Amino acid sequence: MKHFVVMLLFAALLAIPLTASAEKANTIDELASSMDSSQCTGCHTDIHENWSKSWHAQSVTDPRSLRTFRTFILKGIDGNKKPGVPRTMLRDMCLMCHAPAAFLNASDQLAEQIAGLIVTAADEKDAAKKDAAMKELSKLDINCITCHGNKAPGGLPMGAWDAKTIYGPGDAKNPPHQDAIGFNTVKSDVMKKAEFCMPCHHGCPPGMSSKECPTQWSVYQEHYIAHGEKKTCQECHMQGEGGASHRFPGIYEKEFAATAIDLSLTATPTRHFDHLQNIMMPAVVMNVQLKNNSPHDLPHG
Ligand code: HEC
Ligand code: HEC
Ligand code: HEC
Ligand code: HEC
Ligand code: HEC
Repeated sequence: MKHFVVMLLFAALLAIPLTASAEKANTIDELASSMDSSQCTGCHTDIHENWSKSWHAQSVTDPRSLRTFRTFILKGIDGNKKPGVPRTMLRDMCLMCHAPAAFLNASDQLAEQIAGLIVTAADEKDAAKKDAAMKELSKLDINCITCHGNKAPGGLPMGAWDAKTIYGPGDAKNPPHQDAIGFNTVKSDVMKKAEFCMPCHHGCPPGMSSKECPTQWSVYQEHYIAHGEKKTCQECHMQGEGGASHRFPGIYEKEFAATAIDLSLTATPTRHFDHLQNIMMPAVVMNVQLKNNSPHDLPHG
């Protein structure tokens, strides 16, 4: 959470020029259709299954994010000492990474409606109303098109989406996209690079070190790549059988998180003389070695 303050400053600087142009959506469904990935699920069933369990598939609706957005709206915006701060701030400061579709395409009126839905989804006592708000919001979570429809190299979330093109790593022979759904398939070199994850997993002004702005990206660059290590984010987070896994495990997935630490314990039996009791006792000398294999600080977050 410590990266928020800096992130917010940066977001505020970026927000204005980036949201100024293009036609905006006025309803959630219009907005969702600007990044609709319902057509991808029928053929890519395994990937869809894994994605749906990932945090990316809950980037607005995950309870931790949802409640923090709520607090930001009620305390940071509505409760701001300077009156007249609009709820569109949520779109411009948080949704750029958590729901890029909303950041790029939501009209001001829709952005305020989204903020209202977030408060309802977090605080509403009536279960039916709460569920309805959650259902609407989940249409904005990060999906196939958020990641595969972006044409600017390394340019998420500030890139430009291309409505009818799928950008992929380029390994597939003849993807049937054109015939099946009218999409081109284009190879994008950035898909396999760490840079692909950077725009969302960094969010600091250029030139800031990991001391000032400790993000997954800055720490990875300074404590991992700079020490000669080579793995990309994808090589650790998208490992799967027969293809890239879209489960994206992180710190909450115990088995995966455990791969960060090599724990070696050696115990050597010895004897200990207890001066007070004047007796010799059996004892062990323990040697504990901890090694952090992950490019992230431990603990962190
Ligand atoms: C530059 C992109 C970016 C912006 C802007 C951004 N976030 Fe995030 N946020 C992320 C990413 C990536 C993660 C997941 C990685 C992590 O947990 O650090 C995340 C995680 C979170 C989490 C979960 C943290 C945890 O593990 O408990 C919360 C809550 C959250 N964001 C709230 C917000 C709020 C509120 C705002 C706006 C004030 C915001 N974010 C703005 C990218 C962003
Ligand atoms: C968070 C971003 C992200 C999301 C969301 C995402 N992908 Fe991917 N996808 C990637 C990246 C990055 C690669 C390249 C991985 C590599 O080759 O190193 C990839 C690779 C692929 C591949 C080619 C590799 C393979 O496994 O066959 C397919 C197909 C694919 N994605 C489909 C999908 C579908 C379908 C969805 C939605 C259910 C989806 N992706 C959602 C980032 C994403
Ligand atoms: C009619 C079935 C079908 C549909 C619909 C479909 N795909 Fe595919 N897709 C495939 C097949 C088959 C491949 C090739 C798999 C291979 O060769 O490994 C493929 C390959 C891909 C690749 C890898 C391309 C590369 O660069 O190597 C990506 C990314 C991808 N699909 C994403 C999507 C997304 C996003 C959607 C929704 C907009 C989608 N697909 C819809 C069948 C489909
Ligand atoms: C050598 C393997 C490896 C590489 C490379 C790697 N990670 Fe991780 N990552 C891990 C492991 C293991 C964890 C869980 C334990 C931990 O948090 O250190 C993790 C945790 C995370 C988390 C969970 C939240 C947090 O901060 O703990 C996020 C988000 C993340 N990584 C994103 C990235 C991004 C983005 C990159 C590339 C810039 C990257 N990782 C590179 C292994 C890796
Ligand atoms: C469009 C922005 C975006 C892109 C691109 C993106 N992420 Fe994320 N990622 C997020 C957000 C936002 C979250 C937090 C979701 C939530 O609220 O729970 C997240 C969550 C994660 C998590 C789980 C974090 C945790 O707390 O354990 C991992 C791991 C992760 N991302 C890895 C990656 C990797 C690796 C890439 C590049 C291949 C990538 N992401 C690309 C926005 C993005």
